[in-house]
Amino acid sequence: MFACAQTETLLTIKSSGDQTVSRHIYGHFSEHLGRCIYDGFWVDENSTIPNKGRIRLDVVEALKKIKVPNLRWPGGCFADEYHWRDGIGPRDQRPKMVNTNWGGVIEDNSFGTHEFLDLCKMLDCEPYIAGNVGSGTVEEMAKWVEYLNFDGVSPMTAIRKQNGMDKPWKVSFWGVGNESWGCGGNMTADYYSDLYRRYATYARDYAGAPLKRIASGANAEDYNWTETCMKNIGPGRMWGLTLHYYTLPTGNWKSKGSATKFDEEQYFNTMKNCLRMEEIVSKHAAIMDKYDPKKRVALVVDEWGIWTDVEPGTNPGFLYQQNSLRDALIAGTTLNIFNNHSDRVKMANLAQTINVLQALILTEKDKMLLTPTYHVFDLYKLHMDAKYLPINFASPDYKLGDKKIAALNVSASQDSTGAVHISLVNLDPKNKISLNTDLGNLKWKTVTGQILTSAQLTDINTFAVSNKVVNAKFSGAKKSGNMLKVELPAKSIVVLELK
Ligand code: AHR
Repeated sequence: MFACAQTETLLTIKSSGDQTVSRHIYGHFSEHLGRCIYDGFWVDENSTIPNKGRIRLDVVEALKKIKVPNLRWPGGCFADEYHWRDGIGPRDQRPKMVNTNWGGVIEDNSFGTHEFLDLCKMLDCEPYIAGNVGSGTVEEMAKWVEYLNFDGVSPMTAIRKQNGMDKPWKVSFWGVGNESWGCGGNMTADYYSDLYRRYATYARDYAGAPLKRIASGANAEDYNWTETCMKNIGPGRMWGLTLHYYTLPTGNWKSKGSATKFDEEQYFNTMKNCLRMEEIVSKHAAIMDKYDPKKRVALVVDEWGIWTDVEPGTNPGFLYQQNSLRDALIAGTTLNIFNNHSDRVKMANLAQTINVLQALILTEKDKMLLTPTYHVFDLYKLHMDAKYLPINFASPDYKLGDKKIAALNVSASQDSTGAVHISLVNLDPKNKISLNTDLGNLKWKTVTGQILTSAQLTDINTFAVSNKVVNAKFSGAKKSGNMLKVELPAKSIVVLELK
């Protein structure tokens, strides 16, 4: 009997061009949905949880560590029913409303414009506000922008000053509606693109505060929506066009599958659905290329992540789900896809930051835990605003029965100090991958790394054991001559730093 020679996957990484991996790919999303804002970021008036102006400090500290670049608010579907003037002024005088999209709960508007912008200041991130097109008027949106961004004498600035904010915030990222094909008004692409032009006209650029206007884009494979918006709106009138794509374990909205109880078959299907992001982004980008060959319009994937059934016993309208190693593999894979499309994908927002869908953070009264997904963002922050390095390789297969998907996905970048960062994901739950990497003329002497993995794909962090799935030092990479050799363990995410 002869032992089989270990096959190696060859990667080549080159320095070429000056494409940047925008830090805004690492953005997040906070909707008035379930326990994201209320009970997530925002605590009761008399809460004993450490807070500043009712914003939880443990959450702020955790999010600052991963350098959140932008935060999207107030929705989601909620954005198209939100009337911003209900969320300013003395809190005890703010009207209450029903949150029809998410559980029919009463929204007391205690968290509004000022509170959101205070939060962004604490996080040191850029606000990304979605204006109401579905049920709001052009005037309402125009006045919100004036309130936020004008530094002169006007009715809106007078109210802002009365509310304690002398100077404008100068918000830049501006969403013109959300999911206008669905919860944002059930419009056709033609009708929306006309409306976009109208709303966007009166959402003015004030001195020192030009808007980056973002049109509400397609749902998953709705390529006609992208085609119509690109044709009717055109590159000169928008900074970005959005895309929403969620990974559903079963692919079925009625029974999506559990966040924590799944077998290998369901894991395989989930990852297959996750990998569809590559094809979806490529096809939307190709349509955009036709109308915008200079790539002036950003593809903004401002909702992505895994969407499972809610945790048993929780409000179905609150979208609360746990987060396992499988979620981390989805995050690592999706961020690699975005990095590799950073010529077009300039912004993305994981749904959602706290207690909703693929959350970074879960809270329970005064307790807080960081999910496996959080740890991926902690690893990948090294790519932010770094120079993109193209990679070539042929992935080994991850096979299950007679089905197969690519086991390996990778992205790489070089930061301003010259350090090279490579993020590697092995989706195969049983087999390691041996890699041999040629870095061409990139100079490096040492390699260090961190790994995120765990014994089981279903492993999660809980309030009792919050550190089961956490980053650890990785010692499976070494320099061999000019080559980088890596032993990438099964079901793992590894980020290497070469200096
Ligand atoms: O993220 C949850 C919801 O999913 C958002 O409100 C909506 O835009 C999408 O359908």
